[in-house]
Amino acid sequence: MKAVITAIAHHVPEGVYDNSWFAQKIDTTDEWIRTRTGITERHFAFEGGLTDIIVPAAEAALQQRGITAEDIDCIIIATVTPDRIFPSSAAILQRKIGAKNAWGFDLAGACSGFLYALVTGAKLIESGAAKKLLLIGADKMSSIIDFEDRATCVLFGDGAGAVILEPGESDDYGVMDHILRMDGNGEVHLHQKAGGSMRPPTIETVTNREHYVYQEGQAVFKAAVKGMADVSYEIMERNHMTADDVTWLVPHQANLRIIDATAERMGLSKEKVMINIDRYGNTTAGTIPICMSELYQTHSVKTGDYLVLSSFGAGYTWGSVLLRWSLEQKEQA
Ligand code: UT7
Repeated sequence: MKAVITAIAHHVPEGVYDNSWFAQKIDTTDEWIRTRTGITERHFAFEGGLTDIIVPAAEAALQQRGITAEDIDCIIIATVTPDRIFPSSAAILQRKIGAKNAWGFDLAGACSGFLYALVTGAKLIESGAAKKLLLIGADKMSSIIDFEDRATCVLFGDGAGAVILEPGESDDYGVMDHILRMDGNGEVHLHQKAGGSMRPPTIETVTNREHYVYQEGQAVFKAAVKGMADVSYEIMERNHMTADDVTWLVPHQANLRIIDATAERMGLSKEKVMINIDRYGNTTAGTIPICMSELYQTHSVKTGDYLVLSSFGAGYTWGSVLLRWSLEQKEQA
């Protein structure tokens, strides 16, 4: 038996910020942002915490599945922007939605967080340890980006994707295979300088703007192009698939040029690549479930379709998951 997705939904904050909003504040242009990244606009919530973005997505997923929060037995939230360092955002979400029968935890896998959590969740389902698992990929990047640093602030957005994972009826659908990788040498190129136990917050860390995303863009770009393309190709090859067998590549949305390089390596045409970076920017752990939710909402996936989900991010962490879709779109009443 494999773990299958039985509901999927997403939520982004209402506030939309286009590239010209940044151009009025810092030394950048719409043209630079679009051509270097593929981003046109993103959503930010300047009030509330991460779980305020997650709740509408989680409740929509529960409603879609036709169950209540009390039916959920485990909650995993992939994020690097939790409401607080402790308690976990999973605990806070449990209270807010009333999932009183669930245990759960947060998982810090940065941009690969959703794939790490999907594989972890699938193993809990396959072992029988969980029966109805609420799996979230979400980040409120507006809380950790330096709006004075043009090299990073234009890249990110806020958003949440919510999935319900359950045991499938056969081995033919669901999470079929995964490749997950990590290389801690990537830390130097992409991290948050202060706020953790190594460098707790002080007046100095705040004055030095050390609580924000620090990224050496070019180094990460080079590693991402190779890492994401390698695992995406490898998962296809080891499952004896060609580009014709793949219905959708669902890539992490960090940069359109990284996505293009991955698709090219797999031999996929553009029509088979899910892209929404133009509207949301990089929502870190949110990108892949938000993409899948939009595919579902637009009736673009059907039972039996093969999806390759791929990511690359801080750590470095990266990976690919081969998913065979089994969630039918309900007809609107
Ligand atoms: O999701 C987590 C993983 N992260 C990623 O996958 C991100 C990987 N990296 C990237 O996507 C790209 O490296 C960036 C989009 C971050 C940057 O693109 P780039 O083509 O690598 O640009 P660059 O960093 O080499 O900068 C080129 C120029 C520099 O100016 P000079 O030195 O050539 O005069 C930058 O100062 O662009 C300048 N620049 C900007 N100009 C206008 C940097 N940011 C901006 C900006 N507006 N916002």
